[in-house]
Amino acid sequence: MNIFDTHAHYDDEAFDGDRDALLSELFSGGICGIINCGCDLKSSLNSLALTQKYPQIYAAVGVHPHEAEEVTEQDMQKLRALYAEKKVVAVGEIGLDYHYDFSPRDRQLEIFEKQLALSKELSLPVIIHDREAHEDTLRLLKQYRPTGVVHCFSGSVEMAQEIIALGMYIGLGGAVTFKNAKRPVAVAEYVPLDRLLLETDAPYMAPVPCRGQRCNSLMIDLTAQKIAEIKGLAKQELIDTCTANAKTLFSL
Ligand code: NI
Repeated sequence: MNIFDTHAHYDDEAFDGDRDALLSELFSGGICGIINCGCDLKSSLNSLALTQKYPQIYAAVGVHPHEAEEVTEQDMQKLRALYAEKKVVAVGEIGLDYHYDFSPRDRQLEIFEKQLALSKELSLPVIIHDREAHEDTLRLLKQYRPTGVVHCFSGSVEMAQEIIALGMYIGLGGAVTFKNAKRPVAVAEYVPLDRLLLETDAPYMAPVPCRGQRCNSLMIDLTAQKIAEIKGLAKQELIDTCTANAKTLFSL
């Protein structure tokens, strides 16, 4: 199937019982690549460990907005050292989450900006988390102008146009299959094929009819089927193009 999952969390405890067996199944079942995204120092180190075990796994290293409050300067220094690793291909996942507000917004903004600056310094793409923080996210992306992807894109078509005008990619996952998914469907219809990436956010965001189950990268088949229908394309053509896009963005 040649599927590249540009956003997953296989270090999550949801996979503790069968991680190696599942990953072997994914790679023999048609998954050709995965970006495993760190959320803090520990999960970034665990992501790096997965890259050392599996040739198909690459890592994004960074601090998620949920973890912004807890992260220390020492953690940031240790994270910085990880970007020298060859299979660390992005700064992520980073961004803003005004839905949960697990960290104070000032602190989210501070940590996000630091990492945007770092991505520019290191010439690495970013993997952006934006939940109900579209205005601040767009403002900072316009200011720093990184390359990268807005993952699990939940903005409007107008915002997608602005993201694409900045030269960035739109990541779509299981949400596009949900029954109430008006916005993701409109965005999927609009996004030019050369700016689209497929993703899961595994173990979360399983597409219909697996919604609510533990998600894995093979379920991208369902997401791809839905987007292919929306765009009037053959599913495999969509998958192949998105895989090529991922390899271009992450320089693989
Ligand atoms: Ni994620």
